[in-house]
Parts: sequence; C-alpha cells; structure tokens
Amino acid sequence: MQTDSYIIQVNGSAVHPKVLDVHVNIQGPNGLEKMKSRKPRWAIRASEMSKKTFNPIRAIVDTMTAKPNPNKKMIALSIGDPTVFGNLPTDEHVTRAMKEAIDSHKYNGYAPSIGYLSSRDVIAKYYTCPEAPLEAKDVILTSGCSQAIELALSVLANPGQNILVPRPGFSLYKTLALSLGVEVKLYNLLPERSWEIDLKHMESLVDDKTAGIIINNPSNPCGSVFNKKHLQKILSVASRQCVPILADEIYGDMVFEEGMFQSLAPLSTNVPILSCGGLAKRWLVPGWRMGWILIHDRKNIFGKEIREGLVRLSQRILGPCTIVQGALDHIINRTPQDFYQNTISFIKSNADLCFTALSSVPGLCPVQPAGAMYLMVGIDMEHFPEFENDVDFTERMISEQSVFCLPATCFEYPNYFRVVLTVPEEMMIEACRRIREFCEQHYQGGEGTQDLECDK
Ligand SMILES: Cc1ncc(COP(=O)(O)O)c(C=O)c1O
Repeated sequence: MQTDSYIIQVNGSAVHPKVLDVHVNIQGPNGLEKMKSRKPRWAIRASEMSKKTFNPIRAIVDTMTAKPNPNKKMIALSIGDPTVFGNLPTDEHVTRAMKEAIDSHKYNGYAPSIGYLSSRDVIAKYYTCPEAPLEAKDVILTSGCSQAIELALSVLANPGQNILVPRPGFSLYKTLALSLGVEVKLYNLLPERSWEIDLKHMESLVDDKTAGIIINNPSNPCGSVFNKKHLQKILSVASRQCVPILADEIYGDMVFEEGMFQSLAPLSTNVPILSCGGLAKRWLVPGWRMGWILIHDRKNIFGKEIREGLVRLSQRILGPCTIVQGALDHIINRTPQDFYQNTISFIKSNADLCFTALSSVPGLCPVQPAGAMYLMVGIDMEHFPEFENDVDFTERMISEQSVFCLPATCFEYPNYFRVVLTVPEEMMIEACRRIREFCEQHYQGGEGTQDLECDK
C-alpha cells in the first residue's frame, strides 16, 4: 500500500494560510486510474488573467502594416527608450558603480524581497525632506517603475473596484488594472491648459468603488509638468474624497526650468501616497530594471495593512537585480549634477526645435512640453479628410516619409501623435522637415486657417 500526500489550500488568511494535508490511499499499481472519475484528455486553455492582459500600444502598432519608404531612411520617434540611438549614454560614474558592484562579489545572492536595507536607505536619504520624511522602511525596491506600479495597484485595488487614470496617459496603467480585474475610469487632461487635469471631471468619476487615483507628473505622453498650485488642488480632491494617490514620478526632476518639478508627497498633509520612480529615465538605464515605491503616510492612513500588503506582494517574485542594488549608493550619490543637466538641456533643445518647426506646419497643433521626453501634436483631422484617424495618418507618414510617431490612440487620445525627443538633433530636424512635407502634401483647406483653429 502507498500513501501520497496532497497539499490543498482552503480559505487561507494571509497571516495563517490554512492547508489541508490530505492522505490518499492508493491501492496497487493501477490505483491511480481507479481514483480518476474523468477520462484524461488534453484541454489546455490560456488563463482568464492572460486573456484580460492587453497592451494597447502593441495592439495598435501591430495593426499598422505600412512599410517605410525605401528611398528614405527610417526615423523612429516612437520609442520611449532614451538609449536606442546611443546619443545619450549614462554617466561614467553609473557604469563604474555597476562594475565595482560586480567585482565586489557581494551581490550575487538573493536579496530580501523588498531590497537590501542599505539600498533602501540610499533611496530614503535621497528623497527624504522635512515635509515628507522617509526612512528605509518606507522604501520598496522593485523591478523598474513598472513593477512599482503593479505592486501599488495590486495592494490598493480589489477586482471589481476602479482606479482613475489620466487621458491621455501611459498605457501600462490600464494593462495592469484590467489584468487584475480592476476597472479603469479615465479623467481628462486639457491640452489648452498645458495638459492640466480637468479636476471637476476627475472628481465626478470618484465613487464608492474608487480605490485610487493615478497621477503621472511629469507626463508620458504629454511632457507636461504640474505646478504647485495644481498639485495642491489635486490633493484637495483626493482628500475630500478620501482616495489615496499612486504618483508615477518616473520623470521626476526631468524638467526644463530649474526648480520646476514639485513632487506630490511633500504637499500632502493627509492624503496617503505611493510614489513610484526608478533609474530608467533620469539615469538613462531603463534596461537595468531598478524602480521603487516610496510610502508616504504621515497620518497613518495606509497603516500596517498596506505596508504589509506590499511586502507580501513583493514576495511573489524577487524584485530588482542585486548588482544594481549594490551599485545604487554610488549611482545616486556620485553622479555629477552636470550629467542630469546635460540630459535636460539636450531634451529641451530638441523640444524647442520640434515645437517651433511643427507650429507653422499646416494642420498641426503641437503642445509645448515642459519636461519628460515627449511632445504631443494635435492633428486637425478636418484638414486631412483622406485620413480616417491618427492611426491612419501616422501609418501614411511611415509609408511616405519613413517617420514613425506613435498615434495617440495608444494613449486613449485620438487625433494626436506623440514625438519622442531623445533622438539625435539632426534626426529631429530631418523628421520635422519630413513631417512638414507630408502635411503640406495632404493638407486641404484655406491658407492660414489652422491658426484660427488651434491655440498654438
Ligand atoms: C509614465 C511611465 N511610468 C512608468 C514607466 C515604466 O518605467 P520602467 O521602465 O522603470 O518600468 C514608464 C516607461 O516608459 C513611463 O513612461
């Protein structure tokens, strides 16, 4: 007689998961067959979660079948990865820190699921300020800002609840929320107000199932940066409605005017905030997958519950690479200010160049950015009647001019396209020249009318 043991979990609480240890008696060599009440057959289906997981950018871009014009070299202004053209290398102190971390042989093992204490302490010390003090216990290290957002969303929202997300906005919020069974409600950003939030609209979306509001500042895809007053108004809404905020500040400090970036947490007196960031953009190493959550909860509203929830969620899969964790101190503390400043100056110069060039293009309404690495351009579709929408428009721009910009339908905002500003300057100039040629060839309507129709 053989005895097999099956572990079955039943209604386990997170603190003390209950397990049933079931002992099954199997008799004889064919005993297993006797136990089975169904005829075995292959029936493998993708899980419900996998079916609910959907990346709108991929879905739209994959339908764009246009081939670039073979006579023109392709210029991709579509990829939010500042490293692709090699013109924006990270600082040498950053790479040296990594080499030293490897050579030390100290970072080859498993780290705690929320990251090494010493690395969390580095981030806490870097971001702490009197109005929003942080200690290592308030920091969770993650695999990029994406995992930070995923953990933050997962700890705040249950299936059936909803979160408020900016429109236009970074598509990952929706991808993650829907795959978790969380409903997404889109609040409007206003291009005529440099993409400030339509606060009335945002507040009108809050209901008793709202688990959080996502604020992305500076913004992808808008390149907008909120001022202090606007951030305070956002906090007033959250405070009035008692809804926590997930602040995606991955482009924090990447602003064209010195001192213009204001992080949300120091302005909050009571609203609890999970602030998500990482090395990807400011340190120009998106592939290193280092991100973090800063837990701001001065009134103890999140309390132990949310902190412990985040720790438990982090235990599912270990977060960031230990080598990067080991290098974090030197990356954060040795990188010279010049490096950040040079990156910003470069992006700002491309932003000015692109905005100026496209402002006088018939049928286009670029919106001036103030930070991050993007610029949104409105398309006055009335003057381009041969195109159905922004997807059609940008697709034809590929086939005629070999310039690829993402249609803003990818960000839930039709009739715009997004330009990535990190490409080499000569590429930016050439791309703007080709976009002008494209629009001049397809524009229909009276001369100068575009000036009346969009507030440039
Ligand atoms: C607004 C925003 N949040 C989060 C991320 C994800 O960052 P990471 O590459 O660190 O996961 C991105 C990446 O482009 C982004 O644009």
